[in-house]
Amino acid sequence: MAEVVVVDAKEDAGALVADEIVRLIARRPDAVLGLATGSTPTPVYEALRPRLAGVDVSRVRGFALDEYVGLDPAHPESYRSVIAREVIVPLGLDPDRVRVPDGSLAGIADAGEQYERDIDAAGGIDLQILGIGTDGHIGFNEPGSSFASRTRVKTLTAQTRRDNARFFASIDDVPRHCITQGLGTIARARHLVLLAFGAQKADAVAAALEGPVTAMLPASAVQLHPHVTVVVDEAAASRLRLLDYYRDTWADKPDWQGL
Ligand code: GLP
Repeated sequence: MAEVVVVDAKEDAGALVADEIVRLIARRPDAVLGLATGSTPTPVYEALRPRLAGVDVSRVRGFALDEYVGLDPAHPESYRSVIAREVIVPLGLDPDRVRVPDGSLAGIADAGEQYERDIDAAGGIDLQILGIGTDGHIGFNEPGSSFASRTRVKTLTAQTRRDNARFFASIDDVPRHCITQGLGTIARARHLVLLAFGAQKADAVAAALEGPVTAMLPASAVQLHPHVTVVVDEAAASRLRLLDYYRDTWADKPDWQGL
């Protein structure tokens, strides 16, 4: 089962996950990171910045989870822009070694399979950072997504477009389509780290970890993965039935085990 860690604050989650990424890069200087966007992973990227100062990250590779289709890549809310602004530049990564799915209309027919080939060529993703949508999506795999799905175009749900309207001038500006790593793609990453903060995520977190494994709740796919770490604040953890057990397990965990 997933290891669930309940933290007091987002900053604690950021520090915990950043420490794990630093250990990974020390072990594997050409580590392959799976990068999420949205508000949730920000504390991880912020915590990584001081930790990676002085570390050689020139061989680190990165693959973003998803991208909007048809949005100008130069738009500040394209995930290409977000990854450049929040990850590549502050962490000093090599821009040529960090990929974002190509959401341009010109290449969209082949973009998914090309992305899969790129991930395979890099040797697969070592650590995949994940947020979770209020409808239980991971990446942009909306309810109904196949557990075997590969990187492909999806249509965003009305709920996701409403959730993401805060990044745009109005909801009409939120794209309707996206290209996202599939649930099958995410399942091949060697370590999944799912983060969630706030009461608005509590139902999705509980359903993902303790509900039935179902395509209707795409994040429930993490129950089928052998190495999952879930880092949540008290509010996001509040609907978990095994909460006391998760706390005991974490409190009693030997230091040498890592995440
Ligand atoms: C976004 C992204 C996901 C993200 C999720 C939650 O739209 N495509 O990768 O995990 O929805 O977003 P947030 O972290 O902003 O709550």
